[in-house]
Amino acid sequence: MSSTETGPIARTVASTQSEMTEIILPNDANTLGNLLGGRLMHFIDLTGAMAAYRHTRTHVVTAAMDHIDFIQPVHVGDLLILKSSVNRAFNTSVEVGVKVWVEHPQTGSMLHVASAYLVFVAIDKDGKRQKVPGLQPETANEIRRYGDALRRREYREAEVARRKKAKAATAAQSPDPIRS
Ligand SMILES: CC(C)(COP(=O)(O)OP(=O)(O)OC[C@H]1O[C@@H](n2cnc3c(N)ncnc32)[C@H](O)[C@@H]1OP(=O)(O)O)[C@@H](O)C(=O)NCCC(=O)NCCS
Repeated sequence: MSSTETGPIARTVASTQSEMTEIILPNDANTLGNLLGGRLMHFIDLTGAMAAYRHTRTHVVTAAMDHIDFIQPVHVGDLLILKSSVNRAFNTSVEVGVKVWVEHPQTGSMLHVASAYLVFVAIDKDGKRQKVPGLQPETANEIRRYGDALRRREYREAEVARRKKAKAATAAQSPDPIRS
């Protein structure tokens, strides 16, 4: 992972904004009638990918989904509303933020239930990584998210380096790859 960012400025955050609405059905829920966390992560991944597609206009793969906050449970019958946009573009990757609300079916009130950050990598049809266009944040919120995205990237890079180092240190003691 490198820290450079060289794509020419070409996209606004608004041009990447995406939205998905789902009604939560019993098949999406656990035995208490609450939306399963894994199902919510699936919806988050899809909505995030939509923003990444709009930014890159090529194929994208999910490289990381980090820092998900599950703030409130979601119930069968709720309307789930997911909104995403690109926070920052790097070389071949983009960070996307996804925010999730529940719309109360009777009152129409909106409750924030989850947020997540994902990294998508742009690839062509042969799987070769593609350089992504730059992003120009415009509003105060977009500028704040743009700065935060760099800090999260630096954290991810440090964490990958730490894990590599820790794995190398323990590999000699545990030759079984499943246990190391
Ligand atoms: C994501 C993937 C393309 C990265 O490939 P790689 O050879 O490890 O790539 P590199 O380390 O050279 O990094 C390439 C880019 O990915 C980013 N990246 C790689 N691993 C990452 C991670 N764990 N978290 C966040 N970003 C990551 C790098 O920062 C880099 O971004 P940049 O070009 O904007 O600087 C590769 O690991 C892959 O194909 N993973 C499987 C993806 C997948 O199947 N996802 C689920 C289904 S869609």
